[in-house]
Amino acid sequence: MTPLLFQPIELRDMTLLNRVVLPPMTQYSAKEGVASDWHLMHFGQFSVGGYGMVFTESTYVEAHARNHPDCLALYSDAHEAGLRKVIAFVHENSDAKFCVQLCHAGRKAAHKPHWDGGGPLEGDDRFPTYAPSAIALKEGFPVPLEMSTGDIQAAIESFQAAAIRADAAGADCIELHGAHGYLVHQFLSPLSNQRTDRYGGSLENRMRFGLELFEAVRGVWPEAKPMGVRISATDWVDGGWDVDGSIAFAKALEALGCDYLHVSSGGNSPLQKIEPGPGYQTVFANAIRAEVAMKVITVGQIVSPHQAETMLRLGAADIVAIARQSLFNPRWPWHAAKELGVDLVYPKQYEKAHPTLWRGTMP
Ligand SMILES: Cc1cc2nc3c(=O)[nH]c(=O)nc-3n(C[C@H](O)[C@H](O)[C@H](O)COP(=O)(O)O)c2cc1C
Repeated sequence: MTPLLFQPIELRDMTLLNRVVLPPMTQYSAKEGVASDWHLMHFGQFSVGGYGMVFTESTYVEAHARNHPDCLALYSDAHEAGLRKVIAFVHENSDAKFCVQLCHAGRKAAHKPHWDGGGPLEGDDRFPTYAPSAIALKEGFPVPLEMSTGDIQAAIESFQAAAIRADAAGADCIELHGAHGYLVHQFLSPLSNQRTDRYGGSLENRMRFGLELFEAVRGVWPEAKPMGVRISATDWVDGGWDVDGSIAFAKALEALGCDYLHVSSGGNSPLQKIEPGPGYQTVFANAIRAEVAMKVITVGQIVSPHQAETMLRLGAADIVAIARQSLFNPRWPWHAAKELGVDLVYPKQYEKAHPTLWRGTMP
């Protein structure tokens, strides 16, 4: 029997050829938000490496939402054209599907790349940031402006406009970034949301922004194309966002037609006490998957093919995302297929490297 990792999976009208995906990884290599040759190389190498789907890095829906000006963005014709070129390349040269992760960084906007220390942008580089409440991410970080209901509506409209552009650029799928302390997560968590209006307080109120956003974007995204949400299942802080909240959010998203949940954790508080280890977030995927019918993606220190296959076999998740291990080995699916005894089709230019062929004489 074909290992589950290499069995196709359907999300609406989209079929992934296997269940290994490349999750979003910010590159800080876009020029004022426009995809560069780096992105062609980046997505090119992974798509020919056999991933069922590749995700863009967090792609920003408006200027003040950006983590950094060199992150991908999708609010201008130039942004759309840059992405269209990358997506066309991936579709032309591989069977990989392409998902755009749409994002608003909220109070995490205006940051430096990790190689410059990751702190807030300074001086003229800085721009104002908006969040559910005027609470800084941590000491030494700027206090964001509290969003008015008009700001909330404007943010939703920016996501809708970006989704329309993602469709026009040829994306197969979109994902709302609701994890890692970005805007949706900031609304969900009582640590970052201390509003007293209908967007704060009770769990129902804190989920309202994410749910209104999902519904509005789903409304402009083509019916046949899938749309999912990435969440942090827990803040890893007592009194913060937790797994019970995540299950409630997952159920509400499912009722609105969400096709999958991409389950990560953390990123919203300096007080987080993460307990890392191989597959450390899969326990959260498993807990959520037990409560919903939609597909669940697990991510986090998944390294070996047998580890990934076992997660699927145990029913902990439907799809496995491999991030840093893919940077280390962009042909991870090729290696996994070989290890699990699967005969993967390679791109014709590279077929001589196939395990059944490579020992033959050349030329
Ligand atoms: C360089 C880098 C950039 C990342 N950027 C994003 C991002 O833009 N959006 C996102 O949701 N997660 C981002 N992540 C998190 C990854 O998608 C993934 O959840 C995390 O690395 C854990 O998976 P891993 O243990 O397989 O690396 C990033 C991770 C890395 C290493």
